[in-house]
Amino acid sequence: MSKDTLTVTDNRTGKTYELPIEHGTVRAMDLRQIKTGADDFGLMAYDPAFMNTASTKSSITFIDGDKGILEYRGYPIDELAEHASFLEVSYLLLFGELPNRSQLHEFQHAITHHTMVHENIREFIDAFRYDAHPMGILVSTVGALSTFYPDAKNLDDAEVRRLQMNRLIAKMPTLAAYAYRHRRGLPIIYPDNDLSYSGNFLNMLFKMTETKYTPNPVIEKALDVLFILHADHEQNCSTSAMRGVGSSRVDPFSATAAACAALYGPLHGGANEAAIRMLNEIGSVRNIPDYIRRAKAGEVRLMGFGHRVYKNYDPRAKVIKKLAYQVFDQVGKNPLIDIAVELEKIALEDDYFVQRKLYPNVDFYSGLIYQSMGLPMDIFPVLFAIGRTPGWLAQWEEMINDNEQKIARPRQIYLGEGRRPFVPLSDR
Ligand code: CMC
Repeated sequence: MSKDTLTVTDNRTGKTYELPIEHGTVRAMDLRQIKTGADDFGLMAYDPAFMNTASTKSSITFIDGDKGILEYRGYPIDELAEHASFLEVSYLLLFGELPNRSQLHEFQHAITHHTMVHENIREFIDAFRYDAHPMGILVSTVGALSTFYPDAKNLDDAEVRRLQMNRLIAKMPTLAAYAYRHRRGLPIIYPDNDLSYSGNFLNMLFKMTETKYTPNPVIEKALDVLFILHADHEQNCSTSAMRGVGSSRVDPFSATAAACAALYGPLHGGANEAAIRMLNEIGSVRNIPDYIRRAKAGEVRLMGFGHRVYKNYDPRAKVIKKLAYQVFDQVGKNPLIDIAVELEKIALEDDYFVQRKLYPNVDFYSGLIYQSMGLPMDIFPVLFAIGRTPGWLAQWEEMINDNEQKIARPRQIYLGEGRRPFVPLSDR
């Protein structure tokens, strides 16, 4: 008769234990009872990089990496990208259901009316060096927002939490655009509340002397879709940072700054920037075989390739590849696309990549689109951060409301020196 339990025999003691299995997992704390004697701390699970450890139950995002499926609250990503706006998707992530017309109107109004930031933030950004990386500026300014909203510390009040979530979703594009304009030595542009979320972001990035900025609707839609594709991805590195740092019950601005810092790395949100640098380095289709050889020899990695969870084509990459051509129709073809398509083709036929199930991920084509929109490479991870903000916040809210969660605090296996007497400096 089948039973939802796992029977474990500890061969050190000969004792047998029966551990409950729930949702295909055993609780690591159930291992603690397995001891060799009264002084033994008890068995722990060792899992560097959390390769096989679920840190939470979640109802937000579902990924089947083997089949290449990504769903937000049960809706397939490609359907959301085709039919919904980024703010509809943000609402879905935060509240669990797609908004009806009046809910969407109210949400849009709330987000639009929080797009401004305190003038001191503008002055703060002015103090950065002329060539400061925009992601460094974003990490600092998101963190700095916590000093402007001390009410954000009141995590027990759902209304207060909701207000901070609106502020964060609304202000991220403003901070990102300020960082970009600072880098270019251009005056900052204040938000235009007549425009859509993505249209206003384009306005704050690109408006020059015209009295009213009118976004290109194809580019505006493409940016909105890119934000949707980046909006959540369950327990990735930056989301784990958001949850982990947030578990100390710090305010959400500080937790989001930590998430942004995690996203900055080249193995995470920095990969779109790294993918373009790689395509530039390859330089021509005829240099691809040599680059593939170097990747197989472990000298380089194909940036924008491979994923911890997807062992199939990343469903986001499929949507982005199509989107890239729509944008190129408007602004002209990015010459790097030919290298990207050929690199993908050769890699997908090569045994090394086939055996390791390495496919293009979301970052492989997204940088090409951003570059064609006229954006410099170092702002790419900032765009990822804007898209990911509602996901981070939905995951944070879920963590706050989860009675099983406590301050995150992994264990370690100590393999260092045993106790020894202090040696005075003169004897060393
Ligand atoms: N190019 C060449 N070989 C690779 C690559 C790559 N991009 N990715 C993995 N491998 C190889 C790796 O060398 C290893 O081979 P072996 O078994 O012979 O040692 C094998 O594939 C497994 O790699 P891993 O490093 O153990 O896999 P991981 O799950 O720890 O890493 C990853 C996932 C995304 C960090 C990695 O694939 C990578 O570095 N990719 C390039 C960076 C990138 O595109 N990151 C964006 C991820 S998607 C956006 C996001 O969610 O942030």
